[in-house]
Amino acid sequence: MEEKVGILVGTKGRGSNMLALIEACQSGKVPAQIGIVIAPAADSPALAKAVERKVPTAVVEPGESYAERLLKALNGCTVLCLAGLMRMLPQEVLNAFPGRVLNIHPALLPKFGGKGMFGMHVHRAVLESGERESGCSVHIVTPVYDEGPIVVQKTCRIFSDDTPETLAQRVLTLEHEAYPQALSMVLRGE
Ligand code: GRF
Repeated sequence: MEEKVGILVGTKGRGSNMLALIEACQSGKVPAQIGIVIAPAADSPALAKAVERKVPTAVVEPGESYAERLLKALNGCTVLCLAGLMRMLPQEVLNAFPGRVLNIHPALLPKFGGKGMFGMHVHRAVLESGERESGCSVHIVTPVYDEGPIVVQKTCRIFSDDTPETLAQRVLTLEHEAYPQALSMVLRGE
């Protein structure tokens, strides 16, 4: 069976994780094709980058029959990667891809996850906690926000002069390695 990846981006994300996944698939590092990139709005910055990479794209706006419209757009996909999507996926969509919906979080879960833990808020919380390490986590999506089995975690040091921005940049570099690696593992059934 040919594996096809559906990537769901957000309204504001840069799309850098999406690009890392596209590059990994197009170079053959990850044995799958990009089925579709779906954005919740036509002006999502990531969408234009996906178009440039010549992968199929769609806009599916939240609202009535969101689940149904998403599932239609995802037809043929065998695995989903959330890359900056800031909303919970409808249960019907999770049910259609059991154990095959992945998300990336810019910190070491299970700490520093949950409501309000997104963007710079996460890195600020990590720095304020006095932790000496941060990193990223790729996990299987379950109905509970930022929970679900962790597939890959990568860690980095925190330096005394770090700001949320410098830490975010160090973590982002790890995210781009971790996401394709986790996707490969899920495809291999690991
Ligand atoms: C990343 O930090 C990721 O961990 C989080 O959303 C951000 C998306 O960034 N889920 P990008 O759009 O992939 O650059």
